[in-house]
Amino acid sequence: MYKITLAFILLIASITSSKAFSSCAISIDSNDAMQFSKQTLSVPSSCKKVTLTLNHTGKLPKKIMGHNWVLTTSADVQAVAMDGMRAGAKNNYLKPNDTRVLAASELIGGGGSTTLEFSTEQLKAKGDYTFFCSFPGHFGIMKGQFKFV
Ligand code: CO
Repeated sequence: MYKITLAFILLIASITSSKAFSSCAISIDSNDAMQFSKQTLSVPSSCKKVTLTLNHTGKLPKKIMGHNWVLTTSADVQAVAMDGMRAGAKNNYLKPNDTRVLAASELIGGGGSTTLEFSTEQLKAKGDYTFFCSFPGHFGIMKGQFKFV
């Protein structure tokens, strides 16, 4: 009976740990047509940290078709994007030390890839969050819902 119980516990532990590991890691592609490959990204609110990989499957350089992955509340998207545009290329199109930014990757060009790990400490479960690209003119199309549920 003890052996069976132990085996059962180990089985459950291995299932839950592998599931938690994989679901806190997400990835998204972007391209030369100014698009993200997903309109929604979702991670469980049990994730203390999220690992996000952004790929740029296009060929255009960063100066022309740069993409990044920025997370804010949905209410802050417009203002953060506008301030980012003013901050310019030298700041990767984000106002330095912008406290409205909950997470942000580096800016990449065609063929590039970047991975970002961020803490979910500032996020509220079931909050209203949006991810977007802060390259000038991109956020109108390059945005999606970030679900933390
Ligand atoms: Co972009």
